[in-house]
Amino acid sequence: MRDRWSSRMVFLFAAIGSAVGLGNLWRFPYLTYKYGGGAFIIPYLIALIVIGLPLLWLEFALGQKLQKGAVGAFAAIKGRLRGIGVGAVYSGFIVVTYYAAVMAWSLIYLIRSFSFDKVPWADDAKSFFYTDVLNISDGIGQIGGLNWTLVLALIAVWVMIYFCVWKGVKSAGKVVMVTMPLPAILLVVLLVRGLTLEGAATGIAYYITPNFRALLDGELWIAAISQIFFTLSLAFGIMIAYASYNKKSQDITKDGVITAVTNSAISIVAGFVVFAVIGYMSATTITPVTEVVTGGPGLAFVVFPQALSLMPVGWLFSILFFVTLLSLGIDSAFSLVEAVNTAIFDATKKVKKPIVALVVCGIGLIGGLLFVTRAGLYYLDLVDHFITNYGLVLVGIMSSIAVGWVYGAKKMREFINSTSSWKLGVWWDYCIKYVIPIAMLVFLVTSVIQDIKVPYEGYPMTAIWIGWIIVFVPVVVGIILAFVKPKEA
Ligand code: PHE
Repeated sequence: MRDRWSSRMVFLFAAIGSAVGLGNLWRFPYLTYKYGGGAFIIPYLIALIVIGLPLLWLEFALGQKLQKGAVGAFAAIKGRLRGIGVGAVYSGFIVVTYYAAVMAWSLIYLIRSFSFDKVPWADDAKSFFYTDVLNISDGIGQIGGLNWTLVLALIAVWVMIYFCVWKGVKSAGKVVMVTMPLPAILLVVLLVRGLTLEGAATGIAYYITPNFRALLDGELWIAAISQIFFTLSLAFGIMIAYASYNKKSQDITKDGVITAVTNSAISIVAGFVVFAVIGYMSATTITPVTEVVTGGPGLAFVVFPQALSLMPVGWLFSILFFVTLLSLGIDSAFSLVEAVNTAIFDATKKVKKPIVALVVCGIGLIGGLLFVTRAGLYYLDLVDHFITNYGLVLVGIMSSIAVGWVYGAKKMREFINSTSSWKLGVWWDYCIKYVIPIAMLVFLVTSVIQDIKVPYEGYPMTAIWIGWIIVFVPVVVGIILAFVKPKEA
């Protein structure tokens, strides 16, 4: 018998827990600010409705109908298509190797927050991050050896991940009952604190004031699509694996809507937290908001910590903030691992779950050592760029083609509707067969042209090649698998 989530709610917590991650806090608010403020909600919602939700339903349906993780599910559609599943879990596995490194930084900040007084980055948050924590080298070409403090923190993170997934959905199902609600509650605490700070309103104005002219910029649409993909944890085989532990008749459309709406709501709230704090920081340091604002690691590990250090009992809010980061990250991280474990487990039922999990986590830890060298941040940035711009997009295109054209969009929609009280119309077929592959293809071509014109971030060619190789490996493997007939067929 296949394992089951202990209830539908546990499945929803797990799916939402995977979707809600660092991206909600450090990507969504910044993108909104950068691309038209409140006006960004328009492309974001359009991308959600025509690409995100249709694909989320597709992934839920694949897992639930075929009762297998990504590799097994695509193989069940057609043996030669199993490479799509391999590409998906491979890309996801790469992501978790660096996602874990970010969690390792958070862990170090959390530990250092217990100063019960002035936090150690109070005087110079920037050099605390780049020098004290990362000990960053001068460039991507200089690896500079391992940073042992980070290695220890990374090991701690992987131990945590291991115990979340070691018994598959049995253990993950327990953990998500804490890791999904906790960051949501903490965000509300931070929101209340944020809104009562001086300058909060000014910061928030930068977040929500709409600039509709920005909608004419093609780049904004690309940004909206990639955010939707990333935030819903699509194309890494996660939602397929998670749904494969549901009984076949669970309501797919409602599950999709609940997951997507909760995730977006948390993103929007996170934006208010981030910009309230940015407004405060701008007011207290008398720096314009435009100079303080940023996204990504710079937001979470420089700007935010610095702003927290300016507050009364800053150490306490620092503790809250880094617990938020860790609890946001952990269920996203282990969802990626569970997608890999499920694929392996489907194929080799004889090996015990804890052993599979141990091997996968062990390899993840070793692979992730690259990101805790002194050049780790550069590699993280590079690998993230290539995986999210290519790996994800290719898998997205291939899965919509596989389901839309090979399996049959109509047949899949009939299955979805047979489980659901809200029925999908024929518009879903069009999204899967045409809109998604075409939109993603445009995305892909734009990225390729951009990357060929200017090497990403001006990194040296050897580094750029590493990026391309990471993307090409699964493509080549997928093509080979398409030519090699699977055993059972
Ligand atoms: N959805 C997560 C976020 O927004 C990131 C993530 C992507 C997690 C893909 C797992 C897989 O941060």
